[in-house]
Formats: sequence, structure tokens, C-alpha cells
Amino acid sequence: MTASHTVLDVHLTDADAEAALRWDAWVGLTARPKQLPPKWFYDARGSELFEQITELPEYYPTRTERALLHEHAPEIAAVAAAAGVDTLVELGSGSSEKTRLLLDALSAAGTCRRYVPQDVSESALRGAVDALLDDYPDLAVHGVVGDFTRHLGLLPAEGRRLVAFLGGTIGNLQPAERAAFLVVARAAMRPGEYLLLGAGLVTDPAVLVAAYDDAAGVTAEFNRNVLAVLNRQLGAEFDLDDFDHVAHWDADNEWIEMRLRARRLMTVRVRELELEVPFAAGEEMRTEISAKFRPEGLRAEVTAAGFEPVRFWTDPDDRFALSLWKAA
Ligand code: SAH
Ligand code: TRP
Repeated sequence: MTASHTVLDVHLTDADAEAALRWDAWVGLTARPKQLPPKWFYDARGSELFEQITELPEYYPTRTERALLHEHAPEIAAVAAAAGVDTLVELGSGSSEKTRLLLDALSAAGTCRRYVPQDVSESALRGAVDALLDDYPDLAVHGVVGDFTRHLGLLPAEGRRLVAFLGGTIGNLQPAERAAFLVVARAAMRPGEYLLLGAGLVTDPAVLVAAYDDAAGVTAEFNRNVLAVLNRQLGAEFDLDDFDHVAHWDADNEWIEMRLRARRLMTVRVRELELEVPFAAGEEMRTEISAKFRPEGLRAEVTAAGFEPVRFWTDPDDRFALSLWKAA
């Protein structure tokens, strides 16, 4: 049941998503090396698998960020309340689970009127919105199905906003995309609005690799799910068992790179693109990066886009940073 004060805007229609997927699949599958952009992981099954990843013993980012939010949400809410913030916008909100810590703190500070979650995954968004309505009857929820690399300019502008971008998702953008994202996000905000960023930090490569290659194989299944999306949406004929999951720490770029490695020589037909895609045995296709940051580097990037640093918190092991910035 959805209450009357819930709105769901669709900035990314099925037709638009389909056209974008065709484009990305064509460009990526004909490129050398082959690559696919990460947003296509998140169909209903992919979003479900990601939720399982967040509970894995090896996947420390979620629980580390949750602890940071738990500890610092009251201070974030105090800053927000003093600035007259009454709206929480969240990009790539997924299940909105951790967000509850923020919503609770903002409510306690008397400054939480509206929550605007945005995600490409309509199923994840709907699930999150329905669950929140039951637990936050006084909150106006304005969900947006959209792509944070394309639709920031369409975000609802009501109220004074705190924009949260959590989960280390900023690290899933390529460096140039990330710079563009920050500038466009800043342009979509008014001076005096805030950005709350969760970002993974450079840490022990063994810890990093394990987080993206868990023993139970959930991340492997998540990675291969992108092939199932291509099969369903574009009539591709990938056999998921023909690909191994690879998580590689790229020490020069300081990112984890997820790849799918072909187990054998094969040609895969993608019917709706009228494309035959050749794979050599052992060929690797890049599906995702997850960049890890150093505090100085993050500060340089975010301030270059027109934000001022407000707070910067890390966990005791320095694996994750939660940071608050003000649109200058
Ligand atoms: N914020 C949640 C989920 C992180 S996983 C957390 O911290 O646990 C990344 C989320 O971003 C997924 O829900 C995925 O559907 C969404 N996402 C990925 N690419 C996106 C894009 N380009 N635009 C909007 N959402 C995107
Ligand atoms: N934002 C998450 C991260 O970079 C996304 C993620 C977690 C992910 N595990 C993954 C993406 C495995 C692809 C494959 O940590």
C-alpha cells in the first residue's frame, strides 16, 4: 500500500533504458578490451544479489559505513538543521537500509520533511519506498527512477537539500565520469546545500580483493548476472557457466577491477544487435571498477567541483570515509 504523499517519478523509462543498454552493449562488446557499464547489473535479481553482498563477512564497506553513519548521524543532522535542510536526496539509494540512520537523526533534530531516493533499479526503489512508508508515516517520499550520470538536473528541487551518495558507489564511475558527476551534482544544487559522500579508502589489497571475491560466490553470481540481463533484454546467448568471475586490484589506478573471463573460445550471438561476439579462451571483459580513495585525493576532487569540506570521518581501520561537503 502506498500512501497519498508518495510520488514516484520515472526519468528513465523502459524504452530509454533499453536504448541505452543497446548502445552500451554494442560499444562495449565491440571494444578492445571488451567492457560493460556497471549500471546494468541492477535488474531485480542484481539488486537482490547486491543486498546479499552487503551481508557477506568479506564485504566490509556496508557495515563500516553503517557504523560511521550510526556514530555521526546526530552531528550531520545538527549541521543540516542549522542550515535549514529539510529534504534528504539519495543517489543510488538501493534498499535505503542505512539511510534510516540518517532519517532517524534528521527526525530527532526536527528537520526531516521529505526523502527523495533515486535509483536505476525500479524494483529496488519500490521495495525501499514501500518499506519506508510503513516505518515513517510522517515522511513525504518522492522516489525517482533515474540515472545519476544523466538525470541529476531533473531531481526535485523542493526544500533545502542534503544529497547523500553512499556505499562507495562514486568509485564505480570512471575518473572522468566521476569528475563530470561531481560538477553536474554541484550545478544541480544551490549554494548552502550539502553533499554526504561515502567512499572506500585504499587499504590492504588482500582485504579489498576478498570483499569483491567472496568465498560463497555471491559476487561471482552478481557479476555474471549482467550476462543474464543481456540475454533477456537483447536476446543474447551467453551461457553464464562459460565465464569466471575475476576481481583484480589495479595498484596503479588504485581500483578493484571486476572482470568476466571466458573459459573457452566461443562466439556469442546477440540477436537484437545482429552481432556475433568472438571470445578467445581466457579473454577478460571488464564489468566494473570500484575505485578506492586517499583522503587528500578525494578532497582535491570534491573541492575542484565547487564544494567546501565540512566534516571527514573514517573508521578505526581507515577503510572507509564518510564526508560532508557544502555547495559553495
Ligand atoms: N546505496 C546503497 C546501494 C549501493 S549499490 C548502499 O549503500 O548499500 C549501488 C546502487 O546504485 C544500486 O542500487 C544501483 O541500482 C544504483 N545505481 C547504479 N548505477 C546507477 C546509475 N547510473 N544511476 C542511478 N542509480 C544507479
Ligand atoms: N558500490 C559497490 C562497491 O563498489 C558495488 C559493488 C559491490 C559491486 N560489490 C560489487 C559491483 C561486485 C560489482 C561487483 O563496493
